[in-house]
Amino acid sequence: MEEIAARTADLQALLDHHAVPLQVLPGAEVTLGAARELRQEQLPLVTLGQRGRYLLLELPEDEDALPDDLEDVVARLGARGVRVLVAHAERIRDLAADPARLGRLIAAGARTQITARSLVGGGPREARRRFALDLLRRGWVHDLASDAHATRERGPDLRPAIGTIREELGWTPAAIDWLVTDAPEAMLAGRLPIVPWASA
Ligand SMILES: [Fe+2]
Repeated sequence: MEEIAARTADLQALLDHHAVPLQVLPGAEVTLGAARELRQEQLPLVTLGQRGRYLLLELPEDEDALPDDLEDVVARLGARGVRVLVAHAERIRDLAADPARLGRLIAAGARTQITARSLVGGGPREARRRFALDLLRRGWVHDLASDAHATRERGPDLRPAIGTIREELGWTPAAIDWLVTDAPEAMLAGRLPIVPWASA
């Protein structure tokens, strides 16, 4: 955990050395189990940008059910001044089965990220793609992110997903900008982004 800032600085130095115009901020994706155990001094180190305002929370996906105390964990973090950003919500089986649960988390101050590649391709992933589009339609998504793990296979390209959102949902460039820039910036600044066109 203490390594995060140092590794981020190393990466930033490398980018700067090669004149890549990109700013990298520290962060972490924290499992629900780890989030339950975070000590007070550890908590800011794993928040987005290490700013102590939002924690990217990884929930159990397919194999395990969402635990009953999820809402308690989110509320306890909130009492410590940290809001939750639900990571790749479209991949969480129990949220797909019961989207209202995500709606209640959002009403309680949580925010939602979806992963770009969930919006492209069909086949066995079509149900996930449809759920991601459904979340966007509901106004329940506050961050479209790459979840990049590598340069190619799980790369950082958001453009195919943005194409899907334009084609299937008819979103304007301004709406896309809100999703990929304005709302994430608001969270880094500790504000609570509200989807401007949301009905819920
Ligand atoms: Fe994850």
